[in-house]
Amino acid sequence: MTTTPRKAVTAPLLAEMKTRGEKIAMITAYDATFAAIVDAAGVDVILVGDSVATTVQGEANTIPVTMEEMEYHVRLVRRATPKALVVGDLPFGSYQVGASQAVANSVRLIKAGAQAVKLEGGLTVADSVRAIADADIPVMGHIGLTPQSVHRMGGHKVQGRRDGFEAGGRQRLLEDAHAVEQAGAFAVVLEGIPSQLAAEITAKLSIPTIGIGAGARCDGQVLVLHDVLGLSVRELTFTKKFADIRGASTDACRNYVDEVRAGTWPDDAHSFE
Ligand code: KIV
Repeated sequence: MTTTPRKAVTAPLLAEMKTRGEKIAMITAYDATFAAIVDAAGVDVILVGDSVATTVQGEANTIPVTMEEMEYHVRLVRRATPKALVVGDLPFGSYQVGASQAVANSVRLIKAGAQAVKLEGGLTVADSVRAIADADIPVMGHIGLTPQSVHRMGGHKVQGRRDGFEAGGRQRLLEDAHAVEQAGAFAVVLEGIPSQLAAEITAKLSIPTIGIGAGARCDGQVLVLHDVLGLSVRELTFTKKFADIRGASTDACRNYVDEVRAGTWPDDAHSFE
């Protein structure tokens, strides 16, 4: 049986998917091995997320990861030449100074191989979103529980549970969503907000919404690869272990250690005459 090769996913294609009511599947990856695996599984978007700080670098939050490190991981993911759209995350400190800094660092991620960039924030980053889009770089927004604002939020807390126009308030999140759309974002991540609010934002926006901890009524979903594979130690309410690769990896390594200690590794079949 011959199968038609998968079409490369582009930013405009995601808009068409929303129009057709097709769900968008996005997942993170940080290197070529896993980028090839998630691409073969058929994901639409690979996010080289700043979550690399917690999943790979062992940091407590996403604040420490640098532009140089993000460029490096984007380059590794692109080497897998995935059909999925590769989105590079702008790390903390790479766009907070203003729009020209945001454009300069977006250009760096695009030169490293990203096909789009993502940044956190709504109203307050709208000028940067517009400047990046004006530089012909597809830009994805990210509102709600924005991990780079961990110190302002006082932890990784669900947002939009209370009314108000101040940061984290319900009405403010609606404004944030409109602001990034108006500024030219091609999609927006909704993280850690009540499902009802995510559904309302999804219905009001013409660009796709990609949810994480935002219920099923978004246009797509994103999860962190290490949570999906069961590699993470953390277990959050809004993530799901679809496999136990941590357990399987520990078992494999334990078997190896046992065979080395027993002197049964390597056997003749894996040795040279
Ligand atoms: O860095 C990341 O993994 C993210 C997702 C949680 C959306 O931003």
